[in-house]
Amino acid sequence: MKTALVCGAGGFIGSHMVQRLKSEGYWVMGVDLKFPEYSETAADEFVLGDLREFPLCQRVVDRRFDAVYQFAADMGGAGFIFTGDHDAAIMHNSATINLNMVEACRRRNIKKIFYSSSACIYPEHNQLDPDNPNCEEKSAYPAAPDSEYGWEKLFSERLYLAYGRNHGMEVRIARFHNVFGPEGTWDGGREKAPAAICRKVALSRDDSVIEIWGDGQQTRSFLYIDECLEGISRLMRSNWTGPVNIGSDEMVSINDLVAMVAKIAGKHLGIKHIPGPLGVRGRNSDNRLIYEKLHWRPSQPLAAGLETTYAWISQQVRESGRMAP
Ligand code: NAD
Ligand code: GDD
Repeated sequence: MKTALVCGAGGFIGSHMVQRLKSEGYWVMGVDLKFPEYSETAADEFVLGDLREFPLCQRVVDRRFDAVYQFAADMGGAGFIFTGDHDAAIMHNSATINLNMVEACRRRNIKKIFYSSSACIYPEHNQLDPDNPNCEEKSAYPAAPDSEYGWEKLFSERLYLAYGRNHGMEVRIARFHNVFGPEGTWDGGREKAPAAICRKVALSRDDSVIEIWGDGQQTRSFLYIDECLEGISRLMRSNWTGPVNIGSDEMVSINDLVAMVAKIAGKHLGIKHIPGPLGVRGRNSDNRLIYEKLHWRPSQPLAAGLETTYAWISQQVRESGRMAP
C-alpha cells in the first residue's frame, strides 16, 4: 500500500488532499496544529503537533513515506497577509516549517515532496493593470513580490529546488491562485474574498448593501478545490520539476464576484466600497505552462464552484445563528 504524509492536514487544502489520497487507496498520516474544523479527518493517523519543532518533523517522517505533501503555513487572505501586522510571524513560522520538513525528509531519504507556493510570489509591477496582469512562471524574476508572505514562498521554492538539485529529491512545486470551496476558512480574519463575500451575502437581507474593500475593480481568478487537487495529483505524477501555476484563468473583478454570489443567493445587493487591505491590482493564472507540460488545465466555470461554496457557507452562517433576519 502506498503511503503519504500530509503536513497542514487540519487546513483547507490539506484536509481535502487527505480525502483524495484516501480515495486513491493511500495510507495517510496527517499532521497539523489542529484537527480539521469542519469535518472528521480522513487520515489513518493524525499527529497534533508543531512543525516548527524539528524533533516533531523527524518523528512524523519515521515511516518512509512514498510522498510528502507540504501545505502547512501561516497564511490567510488579504486581511491577514497585507496588513503588515503578521509579517514577522508569517516569515518565521512558514520558513521554519519548510526548513525543518525538507531537511527531515532528506535525512529519512524520502524522495518525493510537494511544496505549495503561491501566486503572491509574482512581481507587483507586473500586476498593476487589472485587465492584463502577467503571471507567467518565468516572470517571477527579477523578484519583487508585494508581501512578506510572497517573499517567504519564493525563498522556500528555492530551498526545495536546491534540495532537489543537491540531494536528488523529486520536488514538485505549485503556485496556487486563490483556492476556494467548502470547508475553507470563511470567518475570523484569514478568509479570502470568495468566502468573505459568500458570508457577507448570506448575512445580508435582500435589497441591502454589503461592504467590499477597495473600488472592487481589482481582478483575481479563483480555483475550485477539486480542480486544485486534480492539478496537484497530475503534477505529482509528472516529470516536470519547475514551479507551475495551478489556478483558473477566468479572471473577474471583485465587483463581478459579488454580483455572481448575489445572483446565486437570489438577492439584490448594493456595494459600499470601503478602505481595506488590497494586495495587487490584478492577478490571473497563466495556464500555458501547465497545459504544455501536463496537457491539463482547470476547466470548471467559477459560477459552478461558487454555487457549492455558497451553499456550504450559508449553511455555516445558519448554524452559527447569525443568518439575516
Ligand atoms: P490553511 O491555513 O487552511 O492550512 C494551513 C494549515 O497549516 C493550517 O491548518 C495550520 O494550522 C497549519 N499550520 C500552520 N502552522 C503550523 C505549524 N507550525 N505546525 C503544524 N501545522 C501548522 O491554508 P490552505 O488554504 O489550506 O493553504 C495550504 C497551503 O497552500 C499553504 O502553504 C498556503 O500558503 C498555500 N496557498 C494557498 C492558497 C489558497 O488560496 N488557499 C493560495 C496560495 C498558496
Ligand atoms: N479577504 C477579503 N475580504 N478580501 C476582500 C474583501 C473582503 O471582505 N472585500 C474585498 N476584498 C478584496 C481584497 O482587498 C483583494 O483585493 C481581493 O478581494 C482578493 O482578496 P483575497 O482573496 O483575500 O486575497 P488575494 O487574492 O489578494 O491573495 C490570496 O491569494 C493568494 C494566491 O493567489 C491570499 O489567500 C494569498 O494567501 C494567496 O497566496
